[in-house]
Order: sequence, then structure tokens, then C-alpha cells
Amino acid sequence: MSPVSASSESFLYEQVEGLVKGMIDDGVLKTGERVPSIRAMSRKARVSMATVMQAYLALENKGYVESRPKSGFYVRPRRGPEASVPRKSNPRMLPRRVERQDLIDSILAASHESSIVSLGIANPSPELLPVKGLTRALKQVASRYPLEAMEYCFERGGHAELRKQIALRGADLGCSISPAEVLTTVGTTEALAVALNTVARPGDVIAVESPTYFHILQLIERLGMLALEVRTDPDTGMDLDALAQALDTHPVKAVMSVANFSNPLGSLMPDAAKRELVDLLGKHGIPLIEDDIYGDLYFGERRPRIAKCFDREGLVLTCSSFSKTIAPGYRVGWLLPGKFADAATKWKLSMSGVSAALPQLAIAEFLRTGNYDRHLRRLRKAYRDQVEQMRYAIADAFPDGTRITRPSGGFVLWVQLPKQIDAIALFKKSLAEGVSVTPGVLFSSTARFNNCIRVSCGLPWSERIEAAVASIGRIARALAAGDRH
Ligand SMILES: Cc1ncc(COP(=O)(O)O)c(C=O)c1O
Repeated sequence: MSPVSASSESFLYEQVEGLVKGMIDDGVLKTGERVPSIRAMSRKARVSMATVMQAYLALENKGYVESRPKSGFYVRPRRGPEASVPRKSNPRMLPRRVERQDLIDSILAASHESSIVSLGIANPSPELLPVKGLTRALKQVASRYPLEAMEYCFERGGHAELRKQIALRGADLGCSISPAEVLTTVGTTEALAVALNTVARPGDVIAVESPTYFHILQLIERLGMLALEVRTDPDTGMDLDALAQALDTHPVKAVMSVANFSNPLGSLMPDAAKRELVDLLGKHGIPLIEDDIYGDLYFGERRPRIAKCFDREGLVLTCSSFSKTIAPGYRVGWLLPGKFADAATKWKLSMSGVSAALPQLAIAEFLRTGNYDRHLRRLRKAYRDQVEQMRYAIADAFPDGTRITRPSGGFVLWVQLPKQIDAIALFKKSLAEGVSVTPGVLFSSTARFNNCIRVSCGLPWSERIEAAVASIGRIARALAAGDRH
């Protein structure tokens, strides 16, 4: 029987690619060995020679094989798979005041300049966004509801059509959601701000992952709360034993977690651990604010569930948006506030009033027509490939001792450099060469992670990006060797 099948979800060339990748990963094909010829593979897999060629070119792009003129494809020496994953973080679990706003603002401002190859901003590339489909949806709703699109949307929870479409996604998220539970917001950013204001007051202690998404820290800073950083595992996220210990020793008011493909680690908390987390917090009566912005971007077979699925007491507040998947500029987000619905709605209305009707209607239409699911299938593959390519390029270019996360979703990598490298110096020198990365210190309220960087893989792979990674690698190697100039 052919090892590839036309009825599979994947394209034929991807199946051939997977076959060869498997042979390399399992050591059947060793470094320097010749990969079966295109003709031989076409016979073996019962696919056309063009399909095999497409697979081999994809493998070449990803650094698995190299072509040698008139000779064929050979397995490349690679360091990628050997690059270790960073160690667990080990913060001192003390509540701290956060002072990160100015540093974050200055670094982000520099990273946004248009001449820069921006590996520092966790944004999807416009090339990957559904520009045509969404514009079509926008035009359709603008002509179908010309007056509604111009007016305030007076439904307190947000536009009914969008709330319905979000509720229908409950089947993917792993739990049933009613439209009445959904509060639409201005991006995940507003959902997080509403959620935190709803459950905590200035001076309260908020437990967060270490490292955590810097805007969560900014929010805690602005609201005059204290951050308590909890140990994380780069694969599985927040360490629940450490959290339990923190709850026993400090008056934690709420926990904030990006359990599905955290930013910056890309870690995924297994669903069983999410249940444990919800149970643990339930015992203490502490709310969990989960940020699920990356949940739809899984590389595996199934979408991870949201912690909300395990919530019996209404203590989980789920925040998300379509900013990483459809269009960050539409600013369409949502919040499931659980038992805090009334207070959360009041916070939302006092912070920004009702959200704009037209973007909500357009996104709802994009979801209703099934375009979102089709688009997601392509997007997930693109991110998976981009993350993989970036991982290998970093492993090739960076100094020995570099550790890189191995995310199973999302599109950011966390890179731990040799101890002596100061990531702020690396950031400044890279910027001078036209490339931005995000220094690790932004992801903590303390001076931790100053030898780490976050690298975004949101841009499609290109020679420009390859050259950018090579140039950061060169700078990092020089810094590792002690060159400060
Ligand atoms: C974890 C996380 N939450 C929230 C946001 C911001 O979301 P939005 O643009 O929808 O406000 C980001 C963007 O980088 C993020 O990484």
C-alpha cells in the first residue's frame, strides 16, 4: 500500500515530506546520506515526480536536506533538533511592584519602525491575513445593515450576531457557551483590563507566569497592583505545585495565565492540568483570568481546551480576540466573565462604552460563512512551518549553549542565550543592523531573563529573514566571546 493517501487532510507533498522527515528524525537516514532519488520515491510513494520534487524543496527550505548539483538531495548536518529547551524558570515568589512601562514603550517604539525586520513584534504578517475575504464580509454587512453599522450598538454585551458566532465556537474550545455569557471588547487588551479591574483592587497581589506577556505586567503596574511571578515549565506552563505554595503564603487575589501557547514561551498547559488549576483556585475561591488569544493556533490534531471548560463556580474569566488570526486592526475581542458578568459589563461600558458595530459585524460574517475555519487551517500550517524554520535557523546561527523552546502552537520562540550575553545589548546592536527582537527583561517585573530574547515567527520565511537571523546570531556570538563593541 502507498504510504501516502489522497484522502488524508494533508497535501500529498506534505505527506512525502513527513515520510522523509520521519526517516531523518528516526536516524534511518543519517547526516550526509543521500535521500532516495526523486524517481525512486515517486515509485515508492505512488505519487508524481513533481510532488516528490515539491516535498524535497520544502525539506531543503527547512534545512533538512541540501541539493547537490547532478547528484540529488542529501541529509544536512543539523543542530536544530539537539538545541535544548530552556530550563524551568525559578523566580523568588514575592509580590512586587511593577516598573516596566517606560522600558517596554521605548523598546516597542524602536521595533515598530518600518525599515526594521521586525522579529520583535508578535504580529501576524499582513500576507497571512484574510484580506480579501474579510473585506468582502465588511462590504456585505455594510450594505446589508447600513444604519446599524453607523449607530451605537446598544446591546450591553456587544453585537448579538458576533456573540452568537463566538458561542458557536464553544464546540471547538471544548465547552458550551451561551451568547448571553459573551461580552465583546476592544481586543484582548480591553478584555484583560476589564477582567482584572472586575476582580482586584489597587494593592492586590496577582499571580502570573514567569516569564509572562509584558502587557499583563503593564496592566498590573498601571492599576497599582503587585505581581507575584510563579515558576513555569517551557513545555507545560505554570507550575501548579509552585502556585499552590504561593497561594498558601501570599494573599493572592487573582491568577492570570496564558495557558494555551503562552507568550513568550509558547508553552501549552495540558488540559488535565487546567482542570487541576481550576480546582485548586476553586478551593481558595480565587478567580482565574485566562488569555486564550493563541488557542486557535495549535499545530497538533486537536485544539486545546480552555480552562473555562472545567469551571463549575463561574470563577474563570476567559479573554480572547481575533487579533492573531484575522485582523489585529479590527480590535474585535471578547470576554466570558463567568459569575462576574454584571460588574464586568459595567467596567466595560465605563471604560470604552459600546464597541464599534462594523468590525463586530464583519468578523461575525467571516465566522458565519465558514471562512474562518478554512483560513485557520492554512494559517496553522504557515505558523507551524515558520516556527520550525526559525528554530532551525537560530540553532544554526546562534552560539553554543543557546536553548530554544519547542512550541506546539502560536508563533513565538523564547531563546535562552549563554549567561554572559546581555539581551538589551543584543537588542541595541541588532537594531543598528536593522533587525528587532524583544529582550527577555520585558517579560518579568525583576531583572530576570536578561540573557533571553523572544523571537516572533509571524513573518513568512524569506531570504531577508534568514539574513536577519544570521546577523543576530553573529552579534550574539561576538557578545558570547566577550566583545562589547
Ligand atoms: C498573550 C497576549 N494577549 C493579548 C494580546 C493583545 O491582544 P489584542 O491585540 O487583541 O488586544 C497579545 C498580543 O501580542 C498577546 O500576545
